[in-house]
Amino acid sequence: MIRDIVMMGDPVLRTEAEDVTVFDDDLRRLVRDMYETMYHADGIGLAAPQIGLSKRVLVVDLRREAEGEEPERIALINPRIVWESKETEKQSEGCLSIPGLEEVVQRPAVIRIEGFDEVGNEVEIEADDLFGRALQHEIDHLNGVLFIDRVSPLKRRMLLKKWKKIEAEAEDE
Ligand code: NI
Repeated sequence: MIRDIVMMGDPVLRTEAEDVTVFDDDLRRLVRDMYETMYHADGIGLAAPQIGLSKRVLVVDLRREAEGEEPERIALINPRIVWESKETEKQSEGCLSIPGLEEVVQRPAVIRIEGFDEVGNEVEIEADDLFGRALQHEIDHLNGVLFIDRVSPLKRRMLLKKWKKIEAEAEDE
């Protein structure tokens, strides 16, 4: 089922999400809905707060499978970053909850994450490149953090100004 995506301004996006404690059919249904919602919105990542649910659940799918490599698609429950590289990278990011805004964000180039899959198996992964970036962006959502928080104050002011304009135009329609 495709769920509504919550836009910036909704307090749920600024709330620290709660750990999942029960790995049941409801959780698996939630993960399925999140994939469906993400594909429908043409995104590469989605966190549960973005559909108004304050739970530590995220999905990422870059929809590209390099030959001989693990598919870069994953659902993670209660993910924690356990290691990050000192080396950082800068890349442009956007967010389904702030459509129309994009900005370059600096993040660790490589991270290691521990968490669970939707049936409760422990998962440990190392991710770099766009995959690592998408995972960091979604984990930020679980902590009430948006990518606009990770740019300079000047750029942030510009982005917020642009967002006000986008919001006003949406109301006019
Ligand atoms: Ni986002």
